[in-house]
Amino acid sequence: MSTGGKPRVLLMHPILDPGPAILAEAADVITYPANRPLDEANIRQAADGCIGIVSQLMDPIRETVLASPGLKIVSNVAVGFDNIDIPTATAHKVMVTNTPGVLDDSTADFAFTLLMAAARRVVEGDNFTRAGKYRGWAIDMLLGTDVFGATLGIIGIGRIGRGVAHRAKGFNMRVLYYDPYPLPPDAEEQLGATRVDLGRLLAESDFVSVHTPLTKDTLHLLSTTQFNQMKRNAILINTSRGPVVDEAALVEALTSRKIAGAALDVYEREPAVHPGLIPMPNVILAPHIASATVRTRSEMSAMAARNMATAVRGGRPPNLLNPEVKK
Ligand code: DGY
Repeated sequence: MSTGGKPRVLLMHPILDPGPAILAEAADVITYPANRPLDEANIRQAADGCIGIVSQLMDPIRETVLASPGLKIVSNVAVGFDNIDIPTATAHKVMVTNTPGVLDDSTADFAFTLLMAAARRVVEGDNFTRAGKYRGWAIDMLLGTDVFGATLGIIGIGRIGRGVAHRAKGFNMRVLYYDPYPLPPDAEEQLGATRVDLGRLLAESDFVSVHTPLTKDTLHLLSTTQFNQMKRNAILINTSRGPVVDEAALVEALTSRKIAGAALDVYEREPAVHPGLIPMPNVILAPHIASATVRTRSEMSAMAARNMATAVRGGRPPNLLNPEVKK
């Protein structure tokens, strides 16, 4: 269905320039009603008569939405797509696209930012100074841990994980990685990264940084057993997806000092944060901003809009996750 002759597309949330103009050229864009809960029934209702949905990671796109008559494409403005049930989309012949590649460097930068900030207690120091507690230099004040020369364990050596390894080289870090798929030997050599099993990575790393997508295999990949294997001085960094870490087990591990700290950008029940994490000074809590630079978020918006525009015009969008739908 359409108004003004163009197919209708539902934009779930605002996107950045030049995304809106790209979309408007190809489709009549309607926006999701403000303040309406983001549940499947409401999304289905809003998508009535739409050929496409431009979604974001907080939108549940599963059977109820995907069965919407006439729906042809869901364009997710994210590289992650665990909010979308891809097999069900495929069964309903709905194309699904994402925005890979453009956010790798921003996300790797931010993972490293969190690593450094946690190691050197930057947030604690800022709070301390603002609270008027800094009354002069002291030899034992806010002692942190060295990054240069430390061991970094990377879980998931995709584009972002490799970006973090690349940055770690500049800090002379020993880099271990765990991934079901090994890097080619020349890439391992170039990054100075050694593939190990998860147990060894956890036992030897001073910093553990998570870069795996959320799948049924990675859900709670890090839980009590894994925290028990980590070093007492270890700091966990998570910029991938919250449910990869069992948050209750993390709170327990931090409370009982099995590990030294954590720096998180993502949460198990986002946007809720486990209440046990809130008062912990050795934990940094960021609001899912690893890709939040002006360039990256604009490129994500443009890419998602282009994916949508191509599909609306009958083409095969470049970042198609279920190519079997559009041969
Ligand atoms: C993604 O793209 O999946 C990030 O989590 C948000 O940029």
